[in-house]
Order: sequence, then structure tokens, then C-alpha cells
Amino acid sequence: MPDIHNPTAPVRTAHAGVRGFRADALYFDAQGQAQLQTDALLVVGPDPRGVAACEVVLALGAWADVAPLYPDVPVVHYPDRWLAPGFVDMHSHYPQLDVIGSPAPGLLPWLEQYTFPAEARFADAQWAGERAAFFVRELCRHGITTSLAFATSHVASVDALFGAARARGMRVITGKCLQDQHSPDGVRDQTEQSLQDTESLIHRWHGVGRLGYAITPRFVPTSSAAQLAGAGELASQYPDVWVQSHVAENADEIAWVAQMFPTARSYLAVYNQFGLLRKRSVYAHCIHFDAPDRDLMTATGAAAAICPTSNAFLGSGFFDFTASQGHAMAMGLASDVGGGTSMNVFRTMRAAYETARVGLASQGRAAATLSPGYLWWLHTAGAAQALDLEGVVGNLAVGCEADFVVINPSATPMLARKAQVCETLDEQLFAMIVLGDDRLIEHSHVALPTMPSSNQQTT
Ligand code: GUN
Ligand code: ZN
Repeated sequence: MPDIHNPTAPVRTAHAGVRGFRADALYFDAQGQAQLQTDALLVVGPDPRGVAACEVVLALGAWADVAPLYPDVPVVHYPDRWLAPGFVDMHSHYPQLDVIGSPAPGLLPWLEQYTFPAEARFADAQWAGERAAFFVRELCRHGITTSLAFATSHVASVDALFGAARARGMRVITGKCLQDQHSPDGVRDQTEQSLQDTESLIHRWHGVGRLGYAITPRFVPTSSAAQLAGAGELASQYPDVWVQSHVAENADEIAWVAQMFPTARSYLAVYNQFGLLRKRSVYAHCIHFDAPDRDLMTATGAAAAICPTSNAFLGSGFFDFTASQGHAMAMGLASDVGGGTSMNVFRTMRAAYETARVGLASQGRAAATLSPGYLWWLHTAGAAQALDLEGVVGNLAVGCEADFVVINPSATPMLARKAQVCETLDEQLFAMIVLGDDRLIEHSHVALPTMPSSNQQTT
């Protein structure tokens, strides 16, 4: 990771597009530890390396050290506020916002009763466009500046989300759901056509500005072996493209997969058999894993998206933080709306904490205690690392794309009161995780585009 400060930066005179922000600043050091620089100056501007298509962090440090290096740069001052990395949501479903809070006995009836009917409507481009625009507005309002999200099986739903994200210059990764079996009319797709559509969408959107494509088999039960094999071929043909799916979420789902693939060692092993585990493969849930599954994730470079509010709401189980925390498996936090109940990042971090405390203890296992800095890292720099975007997003290190939030740590009467008794950074972070919601996020700054992208589409 690049050095967080940039003490060797030459003194700059006024430079086109360079600007500064003054406030306390939260960032992660090279060891991933949360640090707070009081009275900091964050300087952002065009990438001197010519790599990023948007503003990047040029310097971050104490105002007294950095301000003299940038004497003519316009500075916005946020007294009593924090600058912090924009949050990274590793897994959600933008078409499921209206499904939030739909109770069901478990994942499979929930999909059938609420989710598939809601998703069927996204064949309509106008319907999808309106909801995609709302989704990206909500991402910003909640401080989420990087999102890996499912669309539906309709090409129009993918175009809608990419279009909305591009209009805001946001780093959004999405893809067309592949589901050619065990799915009702209206969401079921056709094997050959689904793979052709996926490839066309990769060409149309991947690498346009800050957008990325994700090959998106929904989960094993809803894809034929031919569709999974085709997805695996695309995954090896396009190694820069992401893969996203679900695994080991629910007992009935796991039993179904075991029936479909009786010789597979585990559910996860089925994805491996089809070439769908690699760097930039992201699997939501990963609850009912054993040690060989975690080792397989690590060996292949695949990452786990932990979805604590969804796992609680759907009664799916508890992610095993005790076994995973010391493990090298890449992982980060995710809202998983609409199985998940909230886009509130503080709610997600708190649910992860509670999962580690209560979930395993309820099974007679040793509880884990996650530090507030680690929880925050799992939703920013750690999630970025799991997405293979370390040093690109999720931190305020020099060279990172300049996505950041302005936090008011005293946004509510309760937080203001609590802030007065907090003495350490851990205590301050914990107060926000436990008491916080979107009122804490005063602004989301999405890095401004600085160069046209080479394969930008014109339609
Ligand atoms: N497994 C397959 N599809 C879904 C979905 O939409 N949400 C969740 N939570 N799990 C799934
Ligand atoms: Zn999901």
C-alpha cells in the first residue's frame, strides 16, 4: 500500500483540478490499522501517473505539514467533522430494494414468493432505470461509493444500473443474472443467449470509466451445468472481469446442491469444478463452510462477502468469524439488500459484531470479539482488497481514487453525548457503529472524472 502521507511531494503552485479538504481524517495504515489524523489536509486531483480516470488522493497529512506544500489550492474546511474512506459494499441486489422486509420461512420460499416476481419487472427498461437511479442515490446517501451488485436476468437491468452509475462517476460492478433453470417465467433465461448477452455486456461496459462487469451465475440450483460451464469459460477468457454468486447460505439450498452434484465434496467445490473460483470471484454468505472450503477460497483467490443482516433476517445462519478471522481467506462486509435489511453501513458493521458474539456462542462455540477498527476495515479497505481493488478504493492512501465521506460524529443527540465521553479512537468508532445511521454521512464525495475513457460508449 502506498504511504499514507506524501512528505516528498514538491511544493505545488495552483494546479488545474487540485483541491483540498480540511478536517480530522480516518484512514488505514499499511498494517490495516485504523488511524485518525486530527486537523488533516486531504489533497485530491488528477492522477499524476495517468492511470486513474478520476481524481486521486495526492496527499494526506497534518494540516501544518501538508498545507505549505499546496499553498494555492482551494480548501473546503469541515470543522468538527471527519473525512473517511467511502464504504465498499461487496454484495447487494439493486432490484430488491422493494423486497426488503419480506419475511419468509427461509431463502427458497423467499425467492419464490417475493424476489422472483419483483425481479421479473426489470425486463422493462424504464422501470429498471428509475430504480437504478434511486439505488445509486441511496448508495451515496449511505456513504457507499463502491458497490458490487446483482442486476436481474434482463439485459435492460444491467444497462440501467451501469447508466445510472456512470452518470455519477461511481465505481459500480454489476452483471446479468444467469439462471436458465428452476426459475419461473419472467426471470428464467436461455443458456446460449444468456452467455452471448454476458459477453456483449462485458464489451459494452467493462472498463468504461470506473465501471466493471461481473459474470453472475445466481447460484448453483438455478443454472444448468452447460450455463455454469459457459460462465467458467468466460471467467477464464476475461480474467479482469469479476464473478459473483451465492454459496453455502441455507440448509435447504445446500441439500439441493448435494442432490444435483452428489459426488462434489461441497457446494463450493461445484463452482471450482466449473472454473468459477479465482481472483475477483466474490461469493456471498459462505456460512456453512468447513476448513477445506476456506482453504479452497484462499488457494483460488476467491473472496467471501459477509452479509450479517441478511443471514439474520432469512434465518440462514451465522458467518463463522472465529474460524475465518485468523484465516487468509479474503473477505469483507455486504448489505445483501433485499435479503439484507439495510443499506446503513453502521447497521451492517454492528450486525457483524453481534454475529461474532452471539451466533457462535449459541452453537456452543467460542465467540469472537471484532474490534471496531477491524469492522470498519471490513467495510472499506478490507472489502477493497477482497475485490482486488486494494490501493484503488477503500482508503485515503496516496494514489487511491478520491472517494470519501464527510462524517459528523455528533450527528444525533445520543452520538453527541457519547462523543463527549469517548477517549480512544476505538471508543469513537464503536459509538458510531452501535448508534449510527445515514445521518452520520453528511456528504459522499465521489471522485470527479478527469479523463475520457478509451472505450466509452456513445449510446
Ligand atoms: N441465492 C440465490 N439468489 C439469492 C438472492 O437473491 N438473495 C440471497 N440472499 N440469496 C440468494
Ligand atoms: Zn445476494
